[in-house]
Amino acid sequence: MLSKNIESALNNQIKIEAESSQIYLAMACWAEVKGLEGVANFMYAQSDEEREHMLKLVKFVNERGGHAKVSQLAEPNVSFKSIKEMFEKLFEHEVFVSQSINELVHISLEEKDYASHNFLQWYVAEQIEEEAVARTILDKINMIGDDKGGLYLFDRDIENLTVTTQATNTPE
Ligand SMILES: [Fe+2]
Ligand SMILES: [Fe+2]
Repeated sequence: MLSKNIESALNNQIKIEAESSQIYLAMACWAEVKGLEGVANFMYAQSDEEREHMLKLVKFVNERGGHAKVSQLAEPNVSFKSIKEMFEKLFEHEVFVSQSINELVHISLEEKDYASHNFLQWYVAEQIEEEAVARTILDKINMIGDDKGGLYLFDRDIENLTVTTQATNTPE
């Protein structure tokens, strides 16, 4: 059974994951309109992943005697000065999400809710990976600079981007 405190903290995270999905959907649209097809497909996939993060939380809350809340969402940014700015925003957002997950883990320990604590470890590992992916992309973009040919190759290759971190290497 979830305490009211952890239930409302989990519901807050549900909203954050839903907003992440919308933020990345808006980024996908911006990239698609700009003709960056690879970046657009990558961002559509990121948006789907965030919805899955949200659903996983929704089901957890409902299964443990809580009631998952479907909230009104903030409207995301729909345009960006450059691809670099877009991915900087993505990175900042992932850092924000990681902080929010850390806060949730902290609350679960305060409440002595070890089931939620255990469940949340998946998100802790996921955030390590998400931040690593964002950092890798920003490194590549900084390397490209204003080189149009470089951007062309980046757009072509981003869909196959794989980043291996210590967290993703750990056997389940
Ligand atoms: Fe997420
Ligand atoms: Fe994420």
